[in-house]
Amino acid sequence: GQRAPRGAAAAMGGEDVIREELGSLHGIPLYKSFVEGWPQVEAFRARPDDLLIATYPKSGTTWLSEILDMIYQDGDAEKCRRDAIFNRVPFLEMKAPQMPSGVELLEKTPSPRLVKTHLPIQLLPTSFQDKDCKVIYMARNPKDVVVSYYYFYQMAKMHPDPGTLGEFLETFMAGKVAYGSWYEHVRGWWEKKQEKQLLYLFYEDMKKDPQQEVQKILRFLGKEVAEETVARILHHTSFQEMRKNPAANYETMPTALMDHSLSPFLRKGISGDWKNHFTVAQNERFDQHYREHMAGSDLHFQMEA
Ligand code: PPS
Repeated sequence: GQRAPRGAAAAMGGEDVIREELGSLHGIPLYKSFVEGWPQVEAFRARPDDLLIATYPKSGTTWLSEILDMIYQDGDAEKCRRDAIFNRVPFLEMKAPQMPSGVELLEKTPSPRLVKTHLPIQLLPTSFQDKDCKVIYMARNPKDVVVSYYYFYQMAKMHPDPGTLGEFLETFMAGKVAYGSWYEHVRGWWEKKQEKQLLYLFYEDMKKDPQQEVQKILRFLGKEVAEETVARILHHTSFQEMRKNPAANYETMPTALMDHSLSPFLRKGISGDWKNHFTVAQNERFDQHYREHMAGSDLHFQMEA
């Protein structure tokens, strides 16, 4: 048969070139395979004791997921090594060839389940509201998100070619990256904070005082745990520990999907790395755009630690 022409994407690494343009889900740019799997996701049946971990991509999802699994396993790090994080905390809307979908994984997961999603609030399957599930949302400042996303676009090959950082900043500001506008995402979930069982956390707070944030999570879940258990949770979920933990660092993902030699999934894990990447002009432009798109909101971000 005829071979598809190999474009610029091929130069970005690996033989298994799977890069393609994003599709669209109700106006939100998203991987075409996820769009195909959408009917299953929309019909997802939540259980009342499901806990939903919701984030815009690259905002600390994996970190929060590991913390929650540690809480659910009562601080037993060995139990948290039982499987890769993407199997312990299935990704609701995930769909890729030759892999079980997020919904299929979740149907086989015993309760109480932890569920990961990056969906914007308006696309969340209604079942989560109907069952009154608890939700923890984590947000991260957009400058660090866009830098982290830029590296992720390079290593995770389901993404289109991100181009230069300057180009990617424009794509991000225009809301044309996977999952669409960061602004609409963080604001949409922030507005739901009043009416839902929702805990809204920030990556920057978790960096500054993880113990305090873990206590917030425990209060929200109505759980009491011993002080040494909290210490074990904090140790096991530190960047250094997670980075070397194959069950947490995504290294067991097929290389065709994620190539850690291009950029590791747990890359830097700091606040303010954007300063090493943005030019002065890019920063001014981004600040201006940020002011316009966050106007009138009482949601505020710390751009550095
Ligand atoms: S994804 O693909 O959207 O689910 O990615 P996500 O997990 O949300 O974000 C990845 C970034 O989170 C950083 N990370 C951490 N930072 C601090 N401490 C811990 N324990 C931790 N675990 C993951 C990870 O390094 C990515 O950020 P960058 O800035 O690229 O390093």
